[in-house]
Amino acid sequence: MSDRTGEAQTLAPSAALSVETVVRVHHWNEHLFSFAITRPASFRFRSGEFVMIGLPDGQRPLLRAYSIASPAYAEELDFLSIKVPDGPLTSRLQKIQPGDPLFLGRKPTGTLVADALLPGKRLFLLSTGTGLAPFLSVARDPDIYDMFDEIVLVHSVRRVSDLAFRDELEARLAEDPLVGEVAAEKLRYLPTVTREPFHTQGRIGALIDDGTLFAGGPGFDAATDRIMMCGSMDMIRDFAARFDALGFEEGSNAKPGAYVIERAFVG
Ligand SMILES: Cc1cc2nc3c(=O)[nH]c(=O)nc-3n(C[C@H](O)[C@H](O)[C@H](O)COP(=O)(O)OP(=O)(O)OC[C@H]3O[C@@H](n4cnc5c(N)ncnc54)[C@H](O)[C@@H]3O)c2cc1C
Ligand SMILES: NC(=O)c1ccc[n+]([C@@H]2O[C@H](COP(=O)([O-])OP(=O)(O)OC[C@H]3O[C@@H](n4cnc5c(N)ncnc54)[C@H](OP(=O)(O)O)[C@@H]3O)[C@@H](O)[C@H]2O)c1
Repeated sequence: MSDRTGEAQTLAPSAALSVETVVRVHHWNEHLFSFAITRPASFRFRSGEFVMIGLPDGQRPLLRAYSIASPAYAEELDFLSIKVPDGPLTSRLQKIQPGDPLFLGRKPTGTLVADALLPGKRLFLLSTGTGLAPFLSVARDPDIYDMFDEIVLVHSVRRVSDLAFRDELEARLAEDPLVGEVAAEKLRYLPTVTREPFHTQGRIGALIDDGTLFAGGPGFDAATDRIMMCGSMDMIRDFAARFDALGFEEGSNAKPGAYVIERAFVG
């Protein structure tokens, strides 16, 4: 075990946490990185859920919520992470390397799951920043393509280099053995960059208003369109109000609806 995260790593599993091993790490830029860890055989989750992960902090674990970015069937667990310069967890987490140990919560949960949506035809996955993470999971799950005719994945970021997984998504997940073929037919990736020049600019609201989101198809229809949203609290609040006004009803695990939301972070 290394002490790259700043302390001697003495991680012990508990009733709530298992101890996993970092398999790979990729840094997208100075604000963003992704990594994969081992998946315990007993770990079950639904595509789109989040889980607690963390590092030890003295005698106690320091844990944060993270969306799982790999689909339910994956052998490893992928995550996409911000690097908050003074963040208690990410100032250390950004230094992890393959072979390092990491805590993984045993109870994933969340509302960005197919179970919380009523059947529909088009599915819009609207994300800002690291809010992309749960949709990397959903868009790589074959079941979602059985449920919808068309899936539109929108990623709004400040800078071009914040477009994590852009190459894979532009290729419509062509290399993915399970969804490559069906995603080529049904998945549309719509990246937008708000603070640098790019072929598509403007916030998601602007893309809805000018029709870019619909690519020549009809505008929103609460009877057949379904929406998942993940981003800042502001973004979620603004869009929830917009969709409520259009007659969409919010769904939950207890009562499926036309749209579901989750914060990508608190603050
Ligand atoms: C349901 C849920 C799912 C989450 N999934 C992810 C995920 O997949 N990837 C991820 O990086 N984070 C995710 N987060 C945020 C994560 O839990 C931590 O906040 C983040 O790892 C930073 O931890 P920290 O201890 O370094 O800083 P914190 O003390 O937790 O955060 C400090 C400040 O940094 C900002 N911040 C924190 N996280 C983000 C972020 N993701 N994007 C932009 N600004 C942020 C906020 O202003 C926050 O107040 C999620 C949060 C929730 C509630
Ligand atoms: N990513 C960076 O380059 C960067 C650099 C320094 C610090 N940070 C810190 O990291 C935190 C998060 O940054 P982030 O870039 O991941 O997330 P962010 O600020 O939420 O921005 C991500 C995307 O969401 C858009 N957006 C923000 N609020 C919205 C709303 N209410 N409705 C619709 N779209 C909205 C942004 O557009 P706009 O560009 O129009 O806001 C941007 O395209 C910030 O608190 C910031 O201090 C980030």
